[in-house]
Amino acid sequence: MDLILRDGNLPDGRTGVDIGIKDGRIAAVEPKLSAKGRHEINVAGQLVSPPFVDAHFHMDATLSYGFPRINTSGTLLEGIALWGELKPHLTVEEIADRALTYCDWAVARGLLAIRSHVDICDDRLVAVEALLAVRERVKAHIDLQLVAFPQDGYLRAPNAVDNLARALDMGVDVVGGIPHFERTMADGGASIRALCEIAAARSLRVDMHCDETDDPMSRHVETLAAETRRLGLQGRVTGSHLTSMHSMDNYYVSKLIPLMAEAELSVIANPLVNIVIQGRHDTYPKRRGMTRVPELMDAGLTVAFGQDCCMDPWYPLGSGEMLEVAHMGLHVAMMTGSEAMHACFDAVTVNAAKIMGLEGYGIAPGCHADLVVLQAGNPVEAIRLRATRLYVMRRGRIIARTPPTATSLDMPGRPPDVDFMRAVN
Ligand code: FE2
Repeated sequence: MDLILRDGNLPDGRTGVDIGIKDGRIAAVEPKLSAKGRHEINVAGQLVSPPFVDAHFHMDATLSYGFPRINTSGTLLEGIALWGELKPHLTVEEIADRALTYCDWAVARGLLAIRSHVDICDDRLVAVEALLAVRERVKAHIDLQLVAFPQDGYLRAPNAVDNLARALDMGVDVVGGIPHFERTMADGGASIRALCEIAAARSLRVDMHCDETDDPMSRHVETLAAETRRLGLQGRVTGSHLTSMHSMDNYYVSKLIPLMAEAELSVIANPLVNIVIQGRHDTYPKRRGMTRVPELMDAGLTVAFGQDCCMDPWYPLGSGEMLEVAHMGLHVAMMTGSEAMHACFDAVTVNAAKIMGLEGYGIAPGCHADLVVLQAGNPVEAIRLRATRLYVMRRGRIIARTPPTATSLDMPGRPPDVDFMRAVN
């Protein structure tokens, strides 16, 4: 073996497990492995997890907070307007610089797979060009998947139809959408049909911002599920946000969730952002606005938690810390039962990986040796402490490490060994 991690705990509850690594892949997962490793690390009592995965992010906007001004109302609509003010001034270099800085943060936090939406409504497609270059630049360390996202509406924004096709031709991976931002409900439905047909024709996945509103009558997810079934896209389509489900009539939801399950839709909630963006028109009580996570999980749907934003026009905080995302999701969804808390850890690891369709993800023989050793005994402790990443490994190689904390509290880590901002191609 090239490397053996000795005596670790796994997210599924197994303890005292040795993980043998050879040629960048996991070769053995068993107690007291008799083989010897060229290198061995004692991880006794520490949680060894597959890497964190953020299935919903906006890397083209990340770290732009304050430019050209701050979102004073805190609403989604002011955020979209503010992004519109910023867009004409963006350059490929500036977007790539910010994205690479964020990728450094991600590696330090053991976040090694990210699905990022990329706005295609700027005719110059500078964000697409920048993030395609970033995807190539970071691929040895991060799986970066891009979604062609018509931020200003697929049918509403001039040239969005052509721009989206151009972006896919350039190599963007996934078809996006934003039906609730089209001018009418009918236009929203038409956009879903057109975008799902593009995905079917090009054999691509779909991930739409869908029903990101408090309006209980925003029911585009129903159309998304129906189109998924009509076009045979089961298992390839994701509804992101779905916050209107929080406000929907319970009887309607009792009909909707089985339809979503039949369509094998995946769902991504974004708890950090949903909790501050939704409910802005409410006085008191203020709605939480996150979709119905435990009910969707109970119905068998794959549900992930995404970060969505990090210091951008919509959200002033964030740091690439997916345990913070899980922590917030756990609270907003009231998922404090033992199994439910473990499900929140899955929502930022295995569930998100499944939505992205990552090959070789997990801790089993044959999987990529992409691992995070956490200073915690189990997933719940990892969420509770936002545990220190003692080691971050990619293809069996340590790419970031953080000294253990002396107390039970988390502390900032040192920069990762890899530094995209200074790396020479
Ligand atoms: Fe988003």
